[in-house]
Amino acid sequence: MTNSDTKATLSFSDGSPSLELPIYKGTIGPDVIDIRKLYGSTGKFTYDPGFMSTAACNSSITYIDGDKGELLYRGYPIEQLAVNCDFLETCYLLLNGELPNQGQKEKFVKTVTNHTMVHEQMQFFFRGFRRDAHPMSVLVGTVGALSSFYHDSLDITDQHHREVSAIRLIAKLPTLVAMTYKYSIGQPFVYPRNDLSYSANFMRMMFSNPCEDYKVNDVLVRALDRILILHADHEQNASTSTVRLAGSSGANPFACIAAGIACLWGPAHGGANEAALQMLEDIQKEGGVERIGEFIAKVKDKNSGVKLMGFGHRVYKNYDPRAKLMRETCYEVLNELGLHDDPLFKLAMALEKIALEDDYFVSRKLYPNVDFYSGIVQRALGIPVALFTGIFAMARTVGWIAQWNEMISDPEQKIGRPRQLFVGSPKREVPPMAKRG
Ligand code: SDX
Repeated sequence: MTNSDTKATLSFSDGSPSLELPIYKGTIGPDVIDIRKLYGSTGKFTYDPGFMSTAACNSSITYIDGDKGELLYRGYPIEQLAVNCDFLETCYLLLNGELPNQGQKEKFVKTVTNHTMVHEQMQFFFRGFRRDAHPMSVLVGTVGALSSFYHDSLDITDQHHREVSAIRLIAKLPTLVAMTYKYSIGQPFVYPRNDLSYSANFMRMMFSNPCEDYKVNDVLVRALDRILILHADHEQNASTSTVRLAGSSGANPFACIAAGIACLWGPAHGGANEAALQMLEDIQKEGGVERIGEFIAKVKDKNSGVKLMGFGHRVYKNYDPRAKLMRETCYEVLNELGLHDDPLFKLAMALEKIALEDDYFVSRKLYPNVDFYSGIVQRALGIPVALFTGIFAMARTVGWIAQWNEMISDPEQKIGRPRQLFVGSPKREVPPMAKRG
C-alpha cells in the first residue's frame, strides 16, 4: 500500500484540536483512512457495528468490486478461473499468489492426495453424535479435534508447520464431510483413494458403498469442482474475519478453521444455501410459481421477518458473479441428469425474474448471491440439504487458511481487540440483599 497525497483532517465542533490522519491507497479499490492514532490523540473511538466502513487488514488475496459485480482471486477473474482451472489449481493460487505450472501442480496435487486420510481414531469422535445431528455441529467438533493429532506441527511461527497444516486441512475436509454424511445415514465410512482427483474422490467417499463398484460421472465431478472454486475465498466476510480474529490470539490453525465453520453455519452467511432451498421447497409445496407473488409480498412486509434467502449481499450491489456461474452449472447438471424440467430450478428462475423487476429489490440493490442456485445444483448432485453448508466449508477452508497464513506472517500483526460505546450503568454500590428491589 502507498501513502496518498491527500490527508484526512478530523475537526471537532467543540473546539477540540483537529487531527490529521494519513490515507493509504491500495492497488485497486477504496482508499483507507488510518485511524490507529485516533484514540491516543482524541480519547475517542470510531463506531462501526457490522464493520460497514471498516478495513480490518490489508490483503493481497481476494478483491471484490460490489458495484461492478467483480470477484478476483489474486487478480484473476472468477469467470476465467471457473472455466480454465480446477479447484486444486485455485487452492495453489490462493495459498501461493500465482497459478502453478504443470510441475508445481503435479507436486501440489500429489501432496494433497497423500494427506486425505484422517487418523484412524478420528472415527470414534462421530459415535458421540446423534445420527441426526446437524452436519455443521459434527464438522465444528471433528475439525477442532484434528489439532489433537498434530502436536508435531502446531508452531505457527514456523512457516513449514503452517504449510503442512494448510495441506492437512485442505486434504482432510472432504474426508470429514463425507464421513459426516455416511455417519448420518448409517453407512460405513469410505476411505479416500489416491488414484482419483480431489472432487472425484469426494463424490466416491460420499456415494459409493462396499456392495458395488462406484462409477465416477465426470460432468458431475466437474460441476462439484466448479462449486468449490466459486466458494473458495471472498475477502473479509464474517467467517474469514472470525478465523483471522481467532488466529490473532495465536490459536492453532485447526481451532481457527473450526471457529470459521461455526460462523459460516449462520443463515445470514453460509447457511443461506440450505435456507434458500428450504424456501423454494416451501413455496413449491404451497403451489409453486403461482404463489410467488404472495411470497414476495410477505418478504416486503417488514413485520413478517421473511427474507428472500439467497438474495442480497453486504458488498455486491450488483449481480454476484458466482450466482451467474452457479446458474450455468445448475443448467449443465440438470441437463446431464435429464432433470431440465426440475420444478425447483424453474421456480428459482421465476422468483429471480420477478424479484429483479420489483422495486423493493431493485431499490435496495438486492440481487441473487452465490447461495441462491447452489442448493439446487447440490441437491441434483445428491447432496442432502443439511450438508450444503458443509460443502461450502470444505471449499472455503483454503480461503480461510490462506487469509490466516497472510495474517500470521504479517510482521504488523497484533491480537484483535475492538472497543465499544458503553451505554450501561455507571459505577454503583452493591446493596445488601434486604435492600434489593
Ligand atoms: C454469503 O460477506 C460475504 O462475502 C458472504 C459470502 C461469502 O462468500 O463469504 O458472500 C456468502 O454469506 C452470501 C449471503 C448469504 N445470505 C443470504 O442470502 C441471507 C439473505 N440475505 C440477507 O440476510 C442480507 O442481504 C445479508 C445478510 C446478506 C446482507 O445484509 P446487510 O448488508 O446487513 O444488508 P441489510 O440487512 O441492511 O439490508 C439492506 C436492506 C434492508 O431493508 P431496509 O431496512 O433498508 O428497508 O435490504 C433488505 C433489508 O431488510 N434486505 C432484504 C434481504 N437482504 C437485505 N430483504 C429481503 N430479503 C433479503 N434477502
